[in-house]
Amino acid sequence: MPVPDAVNRFSAPADAPLLVVLGSLNMDVVVRVPHAPAAGETLHGRSIDHLPGGKGGNQAVGCARQGGAVRMLGCVGADAHGTALRDALARDGIDTDGVRVAPATPTGVALVMVEDSGQNRIVVIPGANAAVQVAPDVLRTQLAGAAFLVLQFETPLDQVGLAMEVAAQAGCKVLLNPSPMQALPEAFWPRIDTLVVNELEAQMLSGLPVAGIADAAVAARALLSRGPVRVVVTLGGEGAVAADADGCRHHAALRVKAVDTTAAGDTFLGTLAVSLARGETFDAAVQLGIRAAALCIGRPGAQPSIPSRDEVLASPVPPAPLALP
Ligand code: RIB
Repeated sequence: MPVPDAVNRFSAPADAPLLVVLGSLNMDVVVRVPHAPAAGETLHGRSIDHLPGGKGGNQAVGCARQGGAVRMLGCVGADAHGTALRDALARDGIDTDGVRVAPATPTGVALVMVEDSGQNRIVVIPGANAAVQVAPDVLRTQLAGAAFLVLQFETPLDQVGLAMEVAAQAGCKVLLNPSPMQALPEAFWPRIDTLVVNELEAQMLSGLPVAGIADAAVAARALLSRGPVRVVVTLGGEGAVAADADGCRHHAALRVKAVDTTAAGDTFLGTLAVSLARGETFDAAVQLGIRAAALCIGRPGAQPSIPSRDEVLASPVPPAPLALP
C-alpha cells in the first residue's frame, strides 16, 4: 500500500536489533478537559484530536524510535482509521506487512479523556483488534532473527498464548506487558523472559498488596519465582522496581510536569526492549526507559509524544538505582 508523505524518520540501520510486536492498533479520540466530568455533569472540553495509538502500536513506535528494526503484527478494519494507523507505523520505518485488514470490522478506537493534570481515562472499543489471528507459520517467519516478541493484552488471550508458544519453539524471548490486566494462564509463566507490570497489575498477579516501593519489591520477587528472568514493577511518580536473579533495585523517577501520561508505559517498554536487545544491562535499560517515559509525559498524545533515541540520550539522567533488602 503506498504511504503518502512517507519519511521513515526512524528507519533502522542494518545492525539494529529486530523486535516483533503483536498487539493492538487504535485510533485515539483524545478530548482534553479541565477535569473529568462527574456523573450527570456536562462540561466544555478544550480540544478533540484523532491520534494514532493502541498499546501494540505505541510499543512498536517506542521500539522503532529507539533504533530497533520493528515488525508489527495486528489487525485493522478496511476504513480510514486503519489506513491512517498503518501509514503512521510505516512513517516510523515499521514493517506493517503483518497487519491484516479485516473487511467487515471497524478499526479499534480508544476514547481518551485527558485532564489538565495530565491524568487520563481511557475506554477502548476493540473492533478489529478482537480479530487478531496468529498464523504459526507466518509468525515463525516473522520471528526469524528477532531478539524479542513484545506482547500485551489488548488482543485475544488465546492468540497471545499461541504466539508465546511459537516464540518458545523459535527460541525468541518474550517481553509481556499484561495490560489491560487479565489473569495469566499457568502456561504463560515459564515462557516470559521479561514481565513489565504497573502497581495494580503487580498486586493482581501476585495476590499481594502493592502500595509503594517496599511492597513492589516483595511482589516483584513473588512474580520472579513464577518463571520470568526479569520483572519490572512501574510506580509512576515513584519510578520502578527491577528484579532479577541478582536481587531487587529501586530506580527513581525524573520530576516532570505532566501534560499527558498516555503511552508513558508503552514508551518505557519499547525503550526497555530495544536496550535489552542491544545488550545493555537490565538496570541501564530500565534507566533509559525512565528517561524516555519522562519525555513522553511532557507531551500530548500517544504516538506523537514518543521520543527518539537522540532525545533520550540528551535527557537528564536519574540517580543510580538503590539495592532493596
Ligand atoms: O497505553 C495507551 C493506549 O491505551 C492508548 O493509546 C489507547 O489506544 C489504549 O490502547
